[in-house]
Amino acid sequence: MNLKEEITRLKKEKNAVILAHYYQDGAIQEVADFVGDSLGLSQQAVDAKADIIVFAGVHFMAETAKILNPLKRVVVPDLDAGCSLADSCPPDSFNEFIKSHPDHVVVTYVNCSAAIKAMTDIVCTSSNAIQIIESIPKEKPIIFAPDKNLGNYINKVTGREMLLWDGSCVVHEAFAIDKILTLLKENPEAKIIAHPESEEHILKIASFIGSTAGMIRYVKEHPEEKYIVATEVGILHEMQKEVPDTVLIPAPAQEDNTCACSECAFMKVNTLQKLYEALKNEAPLVEVPEDIRKEAVKPIERMLKLSV
Ligand code: 13P
Ligand code: SF4
Repeated sequence: MNLKEEITRLKKEKNAVILAHYYQDGAIQEVADFVGDSLGLSQQAVDAKADIIVFAGVHFMAETAKILNPLKRVVVPDLDAGCSLADSCPPDSFNEFIKSHPDHVVVTYVNCSAAIKAMTDIVCTSSNAIQIIESIPKEKPIIFAPDKNLGNYINKVTGREMLLWDGSCVVHEAFAIDKILTLLKENPEAKIIAHPESEEHILKIASFIGSTAGMIRYVKEHPEEKYIVATEVGILHEMQKEVPDTVLIPAPAQEDNTCACSECAFMKVNTLQKLYEALKNEAPLVEVPEDIRKEAVKPIERMLKLSV
């Protein structure tokens, strides 16, 4: 059976749409109707006319699509596609944290569970984080969760002193600065571009910092000879298509990482075979309890209003 053809046939028959993140395997990106970053994917989820959304990404992304589309079936290739960053913010402790700072505006990065979003005033993604924070009056204190690296970066750019939750992404904390510096010595013409979930010492040496979509846009507009790319390696699939003549080198990770480059093990539990089965069986379904969904949709809609 040709999986790609079968997926295309089933998609038409069931009026389904496939949304995929840039970190997904190239084969998955190739069958998707839309490939994008977290913001682009939630905007596509709002606009989806299909009856079924097949979400190839990690759980919090599919959950966001479900929160925005309670009447649609949202299926994922594998319910175990989690996220270390989302896991670093358990609802009970976060609830205590915000209760102990009642005067603070609560801003959360979209990489968190629906339960955390339900306690949030406004959500942001890596592509609109600065804009969202700047929309909040300067005198208001802010809690930012769960990513301390992104939070730190926003504090630097905006001059705010947001109170940060101590969470991080295993993938973006795995980059080996010594190996990157060696690579730079060997390739002095190369420029570094980095995702803001990376640690400060990586961001300091980057020529550009942005979301996955922002990084792709940047290399397209600045087609240098070589780039060292500090984010999950799946991005290279789309990026290389945009700049076929540019050399793209994935930023190396520390020795103990599962992959020599930074691969997100959560993203990679999804396969084309699992995606096909999810579409065929219309399962596993992503569900969000209605009481949580009703609260979680508000901060996401606030973000989407500010992101048009
Ligand atoms: P983007 O906002 O660039 O899609 O980032 C999502 C993500 O999970 C980064 O690790
Ligand atoms: Fe989560 Fe990091 Fe994987 Fe993104 S790369 S999905 S933040 S673990």
